[in-house]
Parts: sequence; structure tokens; C-alpha cells
Amino acid sequence: MPSNAVAASNSLQAYIEHVNPQWVRLLNLLQMQTEYCQCLGAELTTTEGDVILDFLSGYCVHKVGHNHPAVVQALHDELDRRGPAMLQSHVPALAGELAGRLCRLAGGDLEKAFFASSGSEGVEADIKFSRVATGRKDLLYASKAFHGLTCGALSLMDDPFWRGKFGPMLAGTAAVPFGHIQALEAQLQTRNYAAFIVEPLQAEGGIVLPPPDYLGQAKELCARYGTLLVLDEVQTGMFRTGEFLASHHFGVKPDMVVLAKALSGGLVPISAVLMTDRIYNSVFDSLKRAIVHTSTFGENGLAMRAGLATLDVLVRENLGQRATVLGDLLRQRLREELADYEMVQEVRGLGMLSGIRFAPPNSLRLRLAFESFRAIHPALFGQVMVMRMFRDQKILTQMCGNNFMVLKVAPPLIVTPEQIEQFVRSIRDVIHPAHHSADFWTEAIGLARRVINM
Ligand SMILES: Cc1ncc(COP(=O)(O)O)c(C=O)c1O
Repeated sequence: MPSNAVAASNSLQAYIEHVNPQWVRLLNLLQMQTEYCQCLGAELTTTEGDVILDFLSGYCVHKVGHNHPAVVQALHDELDRRGPAMLQSHVPALAGELAGRLCRLAGGDLEKAFFASSGSEGVEADIKFSRVATGRKDLLYASKAFHGLTCGALSLMDDPFWRGKFGPMLAGTAAVPFGHIQALEAQLQTRNYAAFIVEPLQAEGGIVLPPPDYLGQAKELCARYGTLLVLDEVQTGMFRTGEFLASHHFGVKPDMVVLAKALSGGLVPISAVLMTDRIYNSVFDSLKRAIVHTSTFGENGLAMRAGLATLDVLVRENLGQRATVLGDLLRQRLREELADYEMVQEVRGLGMLSGIRFAPPNSLRLRLAFESFRAIHPALFGQVMVMRMFRDQKILTQMCGNNFMVLKVAPPLIVTPEQIEQFVRSIRDVIHPAHHSADFWTEAIGLARRVINM
């Protein structure tokens, strides 16, 4: 074995022994375990010489594409500068610069930023800050939301898969159906809630768009009953849907917004909570409380530098406009090519965040196979699609985490029309045999058996 192959095999073994063996088993089962040697733009090159097209973007991390040269260069420059990276005893100038740019892009009444290192950590800040600002404890969220897996964020998610065995969760949280304004008002009327925390468009919930006036009405109701409207734009922000924030499509002015994932070009952990002066000042209200909520890595030089470089790329390359135009094209082409397949119920989305929603077939011939297969595990149908897309078409995709019947389509915003066309042809070539070939179902049942026997 060549020496680099030996090193790779040793690293894999070490990962299995010391990190997460179940993850490796899952990747092997889905035939998706491979080693990548270079990731550039929307293309992932494996050591086997395959080029995989990334239509997942690390769950909306890679908006400017993998290893964008301008972000990589900015990080090199920052390291070469040998400045104060994490001194914790000075004023990090880059944090001020990045906060100012984020607040200007976000607009509305958002004047201050708190920096942390992950989306969940941003949501934790939302919880604490909204409690201080309102003097209330309870929190409202939308069913099927995904807000992160720390205990506070997880308390704002009702899917039992994520919560199971990890309780108890925070007390005083309640879910309302997403997009249902009357249900929201009924809860807000109690005047118990510090915040209503919601994604403007539910990503892991299945690429679900709210009714057009939902967020505007939610803001009005929140203001009336003294609750803060907090938007989780961890996936939808940073021009993913065409506008800088997805909430800009709906003309709503939130009290707080969480950004993360793509904010540093997918290279350095980062998150930012944008908020009004009033909220910020309620938390940091005296000299004594100047550092009452902080995070060691929050304003570190590499994350801030990467954030500034990423914003430069997004604006200079006009990636918001690109997301709008190519996202529309993608959905139009998918609708054209998938119109005849009865298991494809809908293609939906906004900008470069789309979902293909599958539904149980109507015809008896397909229904029997589908239902018996789904009875084994509800996620398996989607995973066969994902597996075939990867193995046969060399395209990386995934189903939505809280809706196994929706395939998420979220390439980097730098994706080309040719790559979009390749995706459309590929998904059609995977969906076609599900409708017309016994092979598809034989393989699916084989996979199901392996899951049961594992
Ligand atoms: C909408 C949303 N909010 C919050 C999070 C949590 O972010 P992180 O994994 O960085 O903690 C995620 C993660 O996928 C997310 O999709």
C-alpha cells in the first residue's frame, strides 16, 4: 500500500477507535465513505479520482464555495500578521468592523452584535438575552424547528429523535404550528413569553415557506404582547435565499437575528447574534456586567477576518442576485423534468434553498413496495435516493433532518448553470427507476435488511 494510503487507513482506524464508530458504520452502509483530497467551489475531489458535486454545502455552510481563494488568502494574511488572536484583554478591532457591516446589511433596528462560535451558542444567547430584556422566562418556538443541539436550543425543538434520552429540557417552552397565526396569538396572549424564536423558512423541517404575511403579523403580535421576535437565520441568512436575510423578503424587522454557518466562508467556527440596542443594553447595563455573557473564541481574529472576507466575496460576486436567478432556474427545471413522477409531490423553495418533496405513490403497484419499505424505517426511502445520488451520480445531497420525505437542494451560491443541469438530470435518473424498475426496490429492501441486522 502506498504510504499516503497507509496513513489514511490509520487515521480512519483512529477515528473509529476514538471518535465516532457509529458514524463510520452509517457512511459505509450508505456507500458514502470516501476520502476527499481537495474541495474547491462546488466540487469535492476524492483520492480515488472521483469529482463529487456538492449540493448540500455542509447544511448551508459553503455559500461562497469550498475554500474560496479570497477567504483562504485573508486567513493566511491574518496568521502572517501575528496580531492578538484571542487575547481576551483588549478591544478586537475586527469584531467592531464585522459587527458594523452585519448590522448595516441586516438593517431595521439591529445595532449590536454578540459573537460566538456556533449556531446553538447563538440561540443560547437569544434565550438569555430575551429573558433579561423582558423579565420573562418562557419561550415559544415552532414545531419541527431545528435550532441546535445544546440543551437550551434543543428545548426549542419538538422532534423526539433529537430530544430522546437527553432530558430534562428547559422548563417553560411551548411549540406552535409553523405558519399558523391564530395558534401563535393564543400563546402570546398569555404574556408569559420572553421570545418567539423561529426560522423565517424552515430548513430541516422540510424547506417550508410561511404564508407571505405570517412573519409580519407575528412581529405585530409579539410587539403587542411584549414578546421579542427572534429569527434563526443560521441556514437562511447570508444571501442563501437571495436577500441578505430571508426575513427581508417579508419586510419584517426582528428584535434579534442569529447568523452562523456560512458567516466565515466555511473555514472557521463563528456565529453572530444581531440585536437592538435596547436588548443589548438590558444585559450589559453596568460596568459590573461588562462581561456577563462572553465566549472564549467569540471575537477571535481568524473568525472575524474570515467573516469580513466572506462578506466581501458575497457582495463583490453578487451572490444574492445569483441565488435568486439560478434558484428560480433550478426549481423551474426540476418541475419540468420531474412532472411525470407520481412520487414527486412538489418542488419548493426560495433563492438557492429548495426542497423536492416526495409522497407515497397512488398506484397500487408502487404503493405496496413503498409502504412495506417505509414501515421498516421512515428515513430509508430518502436515504436510498441520497445513496444513489452519491454512488451513481457523484452528487452529495441529504434529506431534511426533521422531514425525511424532503430532499434538500442547497448547493454553494457559486454553482454554475451547467452544474444545476447536471443535478437535474441526475435526480431524474435516480427517481425514474423508483417508478419503473424492480431493481430500485430490491436494492432498497437489501439496505433495509442490512439496517435491521446491524
Ligand atoms: C436553523 C439552524 N439553527 C441553528 C443550528 C445550530 O447550529 P450549530 O450546529 O452551529 O450549533 C442549525 C444547525 O444546523 C440550524 O440549521
